[in-house]
Amino acid sequence: MCGIVGYIGNRNCLGLIIDGLKRLEYRGYDSAGVAILDKNNDINIYKKKGKVKELESEFNIEDLSGHTGIGHTRWATHGEPNDINAHPQTDMSGNIAVVHNGIIENFKTLKKKLEKENYKFVSDTDTEVLANLIQYHFKQNNNFETAVRYALSEVEGAYGIAVLNRSVPDKIIIARNGSPLMFGLGKDEIIVSSDAAAIINVTKNVIYLEDGEIAVLKYDSFQIKTITDEDIFREVQRIDYDIEEIEKGGFEHFMLKEICEQPDAIQNTYRGRINFQTGDVKLGGLETVKDKLFNAKRIIITACGTAWHAALVGEYMFEEYCRIPTEVEYASEFRYKNPIINKDDVIIFISQSGETADTMAALKEAKRLGATTIGIVNAVGSSIARAVDAGTYIHAGPEIGVASTKAFTCQLMSLVLITLMIGKNKGTISDENLMEIAAELKLIPEKIREIIERKNDFKFIAEEFKDSRNFLYLGRGLNFPVALEGALKLKEISYIHAEGYPAAEMKHGPIALIDENMPVVFIAPKDSTYDKIISNIEEIKARKGKIITVATQDDNEINNYSDYIMRVPKTLPIFSPILNSIPLQFLSYYIATARGCNVDQPRNLAKSVTVE
Ligand code: G6P
Repeated sequence: MCGIVGYIGNRNCLGLIIDGLKRLEYRGYDSAGVAILDKNNDINIYKKKGKVKELESEFNIEDLSGHTGIGHTRWATHGEPNDINAHPQTDMSGNIAVVHNGIIENFKTLKKKLEKENYKFVSDTDTEVLANLIQYHFKQNNNFETAVRYALSEVEGAYGIAVLNRSVPDKIIIARNGSPLMFGLGKDEIIVSSDAAAIINVTKNVIYLEDGEIAVLKYDSFQIKTITDEDIFREVQRIDYDIEEIEKGGFEHFMLKEICEQPDAIQNTYRGRINFQTGDVKLGGLETVKDKLFNAKRIIITACGTAWHAALVGEYMFEEYCRIPTEVEYASEFRYKNPIINKDDVIIFISQSGETADTMAALKEAKRLGATTIGIVNAVGSSIARAVDAGTYIHAGPEIGVASTKAFTCQLMSLVLITLMIGKNKGTISDENLMEIAAELKLIPEKIREIIERKNDFKFIAEEFKDSRNFLYLGRGLNFPVALEGALKLKEISYIHAEGYPAAEMKHGPIALIDENMPVVFIAPKDSTYDKIISNIEEIKARKGKIITVATQDDNEINNYSDYIMRVPKTLPIFSPILNSIPLQFLSYYIATARGCNVDQPRNLAKSVTVE
């Protein structure tokens, strides 16, 4: 969602902050701004609606020198995206500048209280209220840290903040509650960010702030406390990826790069975790909850967006191969439905970013109700990864494109590993079947490479359909969630309306939409659902819909039913969602680029949604 960068140290910081903001733009991007303390201890603020490069064109970097500053990319929650509502926000005297991710839920009450004290406001933001509240307390007690703590103790809601105070120019104060924040320790410099992507070209040594904590940062030292003023000791952690991993590496877009990285990413998900001869799986992060998982009476999987589609595939896998009743919940619904949770329930949280506010809120609720919680997360050290009882990282590497691709298929691979682990223990998968699955698993990266090599075929189909106004995606069984994910990818980045449906359910409604202008994408693997899928295709053909199929390499029969075919290698059913997803990722990518859309930063979307 929004991104924060801050710096205090020995370098001129504007360039560093701008560079960091650009790396965070994938999280949210309707406006951007910086506040730099200059040598006269004046706070210089530049902010602008639009992307960071529009902000950059506002000023000459050379003109603005200063060694302490904060910056922000915004994804609007309160107040429309414009120059005034962009962050940093200041108090009315211009003494305090604040950048803020999250939402202050009681900001109207706080605003009224300050208005009574004659505070005036120029923006519609909750953040401006916080800046004034800090100044209000600073006036009372003349201590910067105390002022921030007192202000935050009045605040309800979620925040990650960084604060500058021109009266205390040797410090930046940061605090977090529900919105990620960390700082990197360089030599005589500290860089703050809401995401490690903005830190790693300065240092790989980071400290993650936890909820309810505040840190006072000087260029050569720091102190962490709770908002209630208790000292905290926190270990420094090493970030485990390089700057090259989050750059485009010659690809036109991050999304394309990430689609093409899937063979390696998937391999990283299973590397060292499975014995290819026997199918034995060992997931170190789940050791402590293994027995709970094996004895679970029920598994609930909860997530948002693409991760929720992975969860739906997980449901099929756990029920089919482990015989454990499994339910999937939208994380945003979970905690508001008064869920019935028993102590033998295991709840799995899937999240690429590990920061999604709805998933985090569901996790808190699950913990409160006493369930065993497990994470399937990509971002190492993220809030969800740290809060669950146990977890497994998918190791997809940083995913920057807003539309999730490699994280999705790696989530599916993690679910396969967990399925095999449970199935073996419970005896619901035979040894023979385990061995067969393990042998096939090893071939999956190569099979993905084969699909990637066909990308020009997918591009050709995309060109044919780039002007369509609607799309329907249909699949059955394990591939029904793949249909949902295909439709989501298309609407996210090309703004074409698309719906995913279980193929058979189509005749109960969506069939009314079919005419010669409606492209229908069928996921048609040669498995037990094949004949039924063919019947569904016939139903569409009879109504003149255009048929695009995702079909198995050696399936010639499908030629009779398809207008266009996207081929994937043959595989076992458990892996078919992984392979079948990839042509659909390419299809949406090429349709979106043919339409001139910004695929990495689609309108209104954010990579990591840290508000509920
Ligand atoms: C946002 C992103 C989606 C993502 C969802 C869940 O909506 O745009 O691509 O699937 O959040 O994110 P998570 O990081 O929890 O997987």
